[in-house]
Amino acid sequence: MEQPTNRVFSGVQPTGNLHLGNYLGAIRNFVGLQETHECIYCVVDMHAITAWQDPKELAHNTREVAAAYIAAGVDADKQVIFNQSKVSAHAELTWILNCVARIGWLNRMTQFKEKAGKNRENASVGLYDYPVLMAADILAYRATHVPVGDDQKQHLELARDIAQKFNNDFAEFGGEDFFPQPEPLIMGAATRVMSLRDGSKKMSKSDPSDMSRITLTDTADDIAKKIRKARTDPEPLPSELDGLKDRPEADNLVGIYAALADVTKEAVLQEHGGSQFSSFKPALADLANEKLSPITGEMARLMEDTTYIGSVLQKGSQRASAIAQPVVARVKEIVGFI
Ligand code: TRP
Repeated sequence: MEQPTNRVFSGVQPTGNLHLGNYLGAIRNFVGLQETHECIYCVVDMHAITAWQDPKELAHNTREVAAAYIAAGVDADKQVIFNQSKVSAHAELTWILNCVARIGWLNRMTQFKEKAGKNRENASVGLYDYPVLMAADILAYRATHVPVGDDQKQHLELARDIAQKFNNDFAEFGGEDFFPQPEPLIMGAATRVMSLRDGSKKMSKSDPSDMSRITLTDTADDIAKKIRKARTDPEPLPSELDGLKDRPEADNLVGIYAALADVTKEAVLQEHGGSQFSSFKPALADLANEKLSPITGEMARLMEDTTYIGSVLQKGSQRASAIAQPVVARVKEIVGFI
């Protein structure tokens, strides 16, 4: 079975409120990888329903993530863009990998603990099994590289453990070295985008305050207003990186500026050190609008064209199935299914 050396797989959940953190921390990085890798970018709708999703919104949000990939610059003709639920290999492989993964491994997953919170008894079984579905996503394509944010590192390590155990358990039956170990491409430590209302919390889809995030559906006025009202402290910007210590909101705005301008925070401080927020914020708003409006404008245009997005997902799913199905067929053989 053919094993590429440079196949990327990644996914974004269609849970609404796609924001600047999703763009700078994930989607933007997907674009550059096209130059060097064969890329498969998934809209992980099956992951989304591990928490309740309104069905109408789920459909809309699925198209929106696909539109964001394309608007950001992923080439839908060259790369594979599709939604997970259209390719049955994900569900089928998940079941087999459920029987490889150990309960003790899943019990260590910090994201489950955080998301389930105190009311663990009432969390969906899907939320618990989420990391196994993610492993299946990656392994169904025998992907070699997975761009993930810091928060998904543990899940990727689990995928590596599952791949290894499958290979060992079935070594005598043709499973030896079957799954490659997927390598993380850790992105976004430099661009952890925090809430505009609280510099100690990550920018999040689920924050009740819309003012806490810049979304990819915001207008230029929305963006300017959110930046103007972003929480800050009374000091001017420092000239050195050290001066951002213990100033999470200032650090966040400087970080956002740096990420959008594609320069280091040091460089931003060299230029803006000594400025008051009253002058830095308008500069940041202008930069944000300059960088984001081509993307948000294109996304809005694509969202009007449901037929086009539908055809991208349809074609992407066919191409994805063509890769994943033979892998799953071989896995079934290896485990002894007839
Ligand atoms: N769990 C990832 C997140 O929330 C999304 C995801 C699902 C993913 N399947 C994946 C990422 C496979 C990388 C590879 O960010």
